Amino acid sequence: MLIFENVCFSYPGGSPVLEEVTFAVRNAEKVGLIGANGAGKSTLLKCVPGLLTASGKITVSGIEVCREKLADVRRKVGYVLQDPDNQMFMPKVIDDMIFGPVNYGLSREEAEAQADKVLEDLGISRLRDRYNHRISGGEKRMAAIATVLAMEPDVMLMDEPSSSLDPKNRRALINTIKKLDKTMLIASHDLDMILDTCSRVVLLDGGKVIADGECGDILHDRELLEAHCLELPLSLL
Ligand SMILES: Nc1ncnc2c1ncn2[C@@H]1O[C@H](COP(=O)(O)OP(=O)(O)OP(=O)(O)O)[C@@H](O)[C@H]1O
Ligand SMILES: [Mg+2]
Repeated sequence: MLIFENVCFSYPGGSPVLEEVTFAVRNAEKVGLIGANGAGKSTLLKCVPGLLTASGKITVSGIEVCREKLADVRRKVGYVLQDPDNQMFMPKVIDDMIFGPVNYGLSREEAEAQADKVLEDLGISRLRDRYNHRISGGEKRMAAIATVLAMEPDVMLMDEPSSSLDPKNRRALINTIKKLDKTMLIASHDLDMILDTCSRVVLLDGGKVIADGECGDILHDRELLEAHCLELPLSLL
């Protein structure tokens, strides 16, 4: 469903940030993308909807990411950015949630019904008519996640979805992720969440894939994690 083949990227004038990244996420598989600060997780996610242009090949639902196909690719990919301030741009939460679906042809009523269901699933219906600039950081992150879910994308990319969430919202997010039968790539330092939601993990360091395997194997491997500036999930200590 999502294939990275020999993906390389450098920011202008910089050294390589991604080097020959190769792995695939199968249909309905949930994969955790882990690695220290600066490992290249966000950069890799940004290459999928073409926010950054990498060399190598990225394929989403059989469509190769390239300039001519960007609109098709973006229709299939939902992307929760690391910073929700960069994602929410309409006045109210509900406006953001229906913007994409209405653009893709739903009526306002249909889009609102779809949005209301997502809000209810996440337990945040109270945010529906709130102004984006008047909600807290964690509320904004939940709203950003809801906005992407309301698009019903084939593939979901999430960058640090649980950061700044309180335990109740974090649990609601985890339960929602677990319930969704969707292809997901989730970049996070919250290894407990990854352990709870993903079946596979890809470990990046210095832009290279260091390990790719079962969650149970990689997240239990103290030596491997510590060699790459990570720690065992708290629940395994
Ligand atoms: N806009 C940019 N211009 C130049 N270099 C950048 C830019 N954004 C990121 N980098 C560099 O690219 C490397 C990878 O950054 P990236 O944001 O992908 O890391 P990350 O794994 O997401 O880290 P974190 O866990 O802190 O979110 C880092 O060395 C970073 O300094
Ligand atoms: Mg990042």
